[in-house]
Amino acid sequence: MEYFKRYFEFVKPYRLLWIFGILFAIILTGIDLYIPLILKRFISLFTESTHSKNEVVIVIRGMVITLLSVYVVRAILRGLTASFNHKVGYGIVCDLREKLYNHLQTLSTKYYSERQTGKIMYKLTSDVHIGEELFAHAFPETIINLIIFFGVSVILFKINTELAMFTLLPMPIIAYLIIRFSLKSRKAWRKVQEELSDISAILQDNIVGMNVIQSFTQEKYEEGRFKTESESHFKAAMTAVNTWGTYYPIIEFVAAIGTIMTIWFGGNLVLQGKLEIANLVAFLLYLGFFYNPIISLGRLTELYQRGFANAERIFKVIDAVPEIKDKPGAIETKKSAAKEIELVNVCFEYMKNKPVLHNLNFKAESGKITALVGPSGGGKTTIIHLIPRFYDPTSGSVKM
Ligand SMILES: Nc1ncnc2c1ncn2[C@@H]1O[C@H](COP(=O)(O)OP(=O)(O)OP(=O)(O)O)[C@@H](O)[C@H]1O
Ligand SMILES: [Mg+2]
Repeated sequence: MEYFKRYFEFVKPYRLLWIFGILFAIILTGIDLYIPLILKRFISLFTESTHSKNEVVIVIRGMVITLLSVYVVRAILRGLTASFNHKVGYGIVCDLREKLYNHLQTLSTKYYSERQTGKIMYKLTSDVHIGEELFAHAFPETIINLIIFFGVSVILFKINTELAMFTLLPMPIIAYLIIRFSLKSRKAWRKVQEELSDISAILQDNIVGMNVIQSFTQEKYEEGRFKTESESHFKAAMTAVNTWGTYYPIIEFVAAIGTIMTIWFGGNLVLQGKLEIANLVAFLLYLGFFYNPIISLGRLTELYQRGFANAERIFKVIDAVPEIKDKPGAIETKKSAAKEIELVNVCFEYMKNKPVLHNLNFKAESGKITALVGPSGGGKTTIIHLIPRFYDPTSGSVKM
């Protein structure tokens, strides 16, 4: 959650666009909820026998004009909302990616030697995309779905309380199914992401080291390793899709029972003269709106969960502190090139309690050739890496 909040720092430059995008989406929802009311009036024109033919024609003309203007406004708003929200979403992805990359440039060799390049690349290419999903889709859709859910509930109860209560009977079952589905699917999709990141890591390692694989004829071995990773991803994806495939049809089926019950019970109410036919049609139209928000909210919780997980992965990189830091009061060197290099009592270890260099002292003078000779793994490359300060010695000093 802590990490998740930090996404909002990235919304700041786009907040006006974002607010307008959401505002337009709310107006669009209002329009969608208004249209069945026009249709209801349209039907009641024919079922109520109080209107003369001329009156009906005038009212219908008015309705056509209203509907036409409403649909024009709707089309314009739809275009604007999509454009605004996506500009915000992709803008955030772009800014986040740049910030991440800039920070990566400050991190020291140790950071990279401890991590697979492919996984870092995955963060920069795939993980940051959650910014678009969250801000262009998840947040606006959550607001819209909540409005539809509560708006339609009120409308259904206003049309006919008895019928509304009867129709909403399957609601607890649907809510239970959606919560279970969200939990399962979240776990499954997280696994899919991890597997994809593993594939990206193995690919990066192998593509960069292809000449090594080929010269040691390790193709068959690497083929096997890649196959294992690739198939793990396939299995994870299938689990995730199957979760959806199992729950979604059940949820839809239970929702359909609501509609069937409305037709049965509502039909009876009409026969008994307790409900107008126009109201029953409006009720059915609104019922069509009713279940979608619940199903969407289930999907959205999953998106937020992914957002939480990704935020942690991304902001942990941004928070990583460079290993190599200047001491307070360090002065900038004025020399363009070092005259001599001296190592004094240098100790160094890559991992705790596994010393590689122990009390090393030597001086490499300008104009002379200094040779480092030793067995493989003796520490020659390590010494060379200490000179440009890829690493700091554990103790002792490297002087120039
Ligand atoms: N990034 C690293 N993380 C952990 N241990 C490392 C790392 N790089 C080297 N080592 C270890 O440090 C020791 C010294 O390695 P180094 O590469 O400096 O030897 P070298 O003298 O250059 O060997 P070679 O002649 O094979 O190039 C070895 O035991 C090696 O396993
Ligand atoms: Mg070496």
